Amino acid sequence: MPKKLFIKTYGCQMNVYDSARMADVLGGQGYAAVETPEEADLVVLNTCHIREKAAEKVYSELGRLNALRRFRRGQGGDLRIAVAGCVAQAEGAEMRRRAPFVDLVVGPQAYHRLGDLVSQLERAGEQAVETDFPAETKFDALPAPSSTATAAFLTVQEGCDKFCSFCVVPYTRGAEYSRPVADVLAEAERLVELGAREITLLGQNVNAYHGERSDGGRCSLGELIRRLAEIPALQRIRYTTSHPLDMDPELIRTHAEVPALMPFVHLPVQSGSDRVLEAMNRRHRVDDYRRVVDALRGARTDIALSGDFIVGFPGETDDDFADTLRLVENVGYAHAYSFKYSPRPGTPAAEREQLDDVVKVRRLEQLNALLDLQRATFDAATVGRTVGVLLERAGRHPGQLAGRSPYMQAVHVAADASLLGTLASVEIDSACPNSLSGRLAVSAP
Ligand code: 5AD
Ligand code: SF4
Repeated sequence: MPKKLFIKTYGCQMNVYDSARMADVLGGQGYAAVETPEEADLVVLNTCHIREKAAEKVYSELGRLNALRRFRRGQGGDLRIAVAGCVAQAEGAEMRRRAPFVDLVVGPQAYHRLGDLVSQLERAGEQAVETDFPAETKFDALPAPSSTATAAFLTVQEGCDKFCSFCVVPYTRGAEYSRPVADVLAEAERLVELGAREITLLGQNVNAYHGERSDGGRCSLGELIRRLAEIPALQRIRYTTSHPLDMDPELIRTHAEVPALMPFVHLPVQSGSDRVLEAMNRRHRVDDYRRVVDALRGARTDIALSGDFIVGFPGETDDDFADTLRLVENVGYAHAYSFKYSPRPGTPAAEREQLDDVVKVRRLEQLNALLDLQRATFDAATVGRTVGVLLERAGRHPGQLAGRSPYMQAVHVAADASLLGTLASVEIDSACPNSLSGRLAVSAP
């Protein structure tokens, strides 16, 4: 009987990609994926350390898993527990002290070693903490994907050298690294063979991509996208997350020239105040960001923007916050994420004097109200239009399929299951708070 594996993924899309890779590694060890921890022999928590709340969730889940293990042992069975991801990397051996029942602690740079670690655990009961940044790169050692969703993720770049003063990523994911072009193309072709029709290129700073070409030169993200667009059955390409400073003219031009590149860009700015941007060590000013937005819109008029914002950063005044609201008003977002600043151990901003939580909550509510309004306005403007929707999954109701518009809006549409995995033209006829509804159009958009 195959052994059973349950992976729970927290945090960003890079973790979603990593979880799929871990499932491939453990698939090679005879583990088949199951839907709940209750069915599993091995549970992997793939964790996120970006904000305190995300990290704390891991410990409550570990408490539940420990209870499940005790119950199993009472019945003569067992359960093995591994923690992967950025909490594993940040806490390392400390995690085994706080939760000694955890068998394996594996940082994001060591997933290719997971197979051996699990074997040793099974054979000799050897527990382990593996949080080194090994000399070999994990990407060389990971197996090729064995399955894919219609809309797949592909990590092309990892780590970050920017050191924004609030962020743990440079510490948990390490220095910036770009995968060679040939590896990315081979993995993309494999994903398309397996059924992917859309690929989102992932990286903490994906537009800083500078992978090696076979001639030894460096390839930018724009060039990489042009190469990927030559794969015939690949209908859509996206990328996330970008830093404004790395948004070079070539990448912007790619939006004008490559139809498969979707008109949606996630471009975090964090704050609309130059003073706060400086304290955050973002290395750009508000006007630099505005110029990038204008250039993107110049390249492709229908481009939709998404962003990340942090409110209540140490030293943020009412005037600074008003500047953020003003920037949001000026830019007009289709969608955005906003967060209360959360001090992270080991980052410079955590040492500074903190704002009162009441202030953070009030600012977050105010910003969210504006962002929600902008999103509703953007969605309402899509009603009546015919847009391409990649039908990726079953919809909310029987007889429906669901997918995303070019602008990342979730769309539900009455369609036969045989259309799953295809790109359909959909006439949008209504907008709800979290999704759009439409019907199949006769002609292509
Ligand atoms: N507190 C709150 N939000 C944060 N982010 C990163 N670090 C923190 C922090 N310490 C947000 C940023 C980033 C997104 C992934 O998470 O907005 O773009
Ligand atoms: Fe973190 Fe992004 Fe700043 Fe890098 S650029 S330190 S990942 S917020």
